[in-house]
Amino acid sequence: MITAHSIADAAYIVSALLFILGLAGLAKHETSRQGIVFGISGMVIALAATINLAVRDVPGVAVILLIIAVLIGAVIGLLRARAVEMTGMPELIALLHSFVGLAAVLVGWSGYYGVESKGSAQTEIASNLLRIHHAEVFIGVFIGAVTFTGSIVAYLKLSARINSSPLMLPGKNLINLGALAAFAALTIAFVASPNFGLLVAVTAVALALGWHLVASIGGGDMPVVVSMLNSYSGWAAAASGFLLDNNLLIVTGALVGSSGAYLSYIMCQAMNRSFISVIAGGFGIVAASDDHTDYGEHREINADDTADLLRNATSVIITPGYGMAVAQAQYPVADLTRKLRDRGIEVRFGIHPVAGRLPGHMNVLLAEAKVPYDIVLEMDEINDDFASTSVVLVIGANDTVNPAALEDPASPIAGMPVLHVWEAQNVIVFKRSMAAGYAGVQNPLFFRANTQMLFGDAKDRVEDILRAL
Ligand code: TAP
Repeated sequence: MITAHSIADAAYIVSALLFILGLAGLAKHETSRQGIVFGISGMVIALAATINLAVRDVPGVAVILLIIAVLIGAVIGLLRARAVEMTGMPELIALLHSFVGLAAVLVGWSGYYGVESKGSAQTEIASNLLRIHHAEVFIGVFIGAVTFTGSIVAYLKLSARINSSPLMLPGKNLINLGALAAFAALTIAFVASPNFGLLVAVTAVALALGWHLVASIGGGDMPVVVSMLNSYSGWAAAASGFLLDNNLLIVTGALVGSSGAYLSYIMCQAMNRSFISVIAGGFGIVAASDDHTDYGEHREINADDTADLLRNATSVIITPGYGMAVAQAQYPVADLTRKLRDRGIEVRFGIHPVAGRLPGHMNVLLAEAKVPYDIVLEMDEINDDFASTSVVLVIGANDTVNPAALEDPASPIAGMPVLHVWEAQNVIVFKRSMAAGYAGVQNPLFFRANTQMLFGDAKDRVEDILRAL
């Protein structure tokens, strides 16, 4: 017999397939729009099936409240998504992860009030499954609370509301290990005999652990933290799915959890960081000492002289970074590219995997400005070509072109692969001042003999060069 539940189960399978197709579509530029359409369709079907179930199972007033909540959420989400700048995406994502964490904590607590607080005699759950329910409540609350505070700290760091340097408490690794041991002990106690005090204790331990884990990670490693929290938020959703007996939430949570974990792993490889070290809150990372090195004087250049250099160049590589996004310089950069290519000069782009503030940030901006995909190359594809390049334009990049990562083992970004821009004949760095990049470290590139600084807003300076050309 067809019931609301069987319709919901069928709809959930269709939604889950659409989410998988969505993820597959997002893996390539060409299919990313299609991927988004699959994802949105899956979510619409899931919401409709859930509301249809609710109409049957819960009082009318609750359904009305549910629909009002969905509508309010949808309106806030739409307005926020339309208003957000590309540069503000990572902190928005971090904030959204915190909501998933908070929701998992609330689902866990309501699970406790629905079952454990009433005592085993009052519940409909079979006695042999009751202990599993206790564990689900506890684990869901733990993962949710770690995700909640961790995401809030990530949001505060990414939006520069707090300092992005790593918090270095004495014995920080012991603190993390102690929190995990406390969680294990509390879980055993709760499964044996659930009570309110233990639930409060695990919530407090997890909130503190989430805060400490992310606070201990330094600025340069924040990209990995964002994808790691993405993964945690998926596991938090999956834990809620088990509690609510909702298969779609379990499948979706597992998809988000595993894809987030895999993305973190790929980014750790790109940045030559230990995956375990980062997910364990900077385990093994030591505090950097202050840099008092005298790098000498830097040289400046103006837009007219840069235009002259470009006129006489045979090959040019542009390495964009976060500053290009801030200045919204991608459109004049695309015009400059066209102009130089029309003159027969070879122009290519070198993209560092963590340039900007989110994975693929530079690729998205360049695609938006209609720069052809085939001249936009990954770091590994272009790193050997700098030595035979006449001019490199470093547009608002800093950490991703810092030679200290290769040459100074004491640098906080030591070991991170970078673009070898300094090997070119001429390097022009577009930025507004001599300030450090996101990781807060000085960049010896600015003081090299073949480097000249072109100060000012990147968009204004590129437009000046276009006029001069
Ligand atoms: P950053 O090291 O962040 O440096 C950007 C530079 O742009 C700054 O030095 C700044 O110098 C300059 N700038 C800012 N506004 C500008 C404007 N309007 N015009 C011209 N220049 C401007 O850049 P990056 O090389 O792209 O490195 C990215 C960093 O962010 C890495 O440390 C990475 O680990 C981290 N991060 C990345 C991600 C992802 S997933 N990509 C996420 C979080 C963090 P002035 O202030 O002097 O102008």
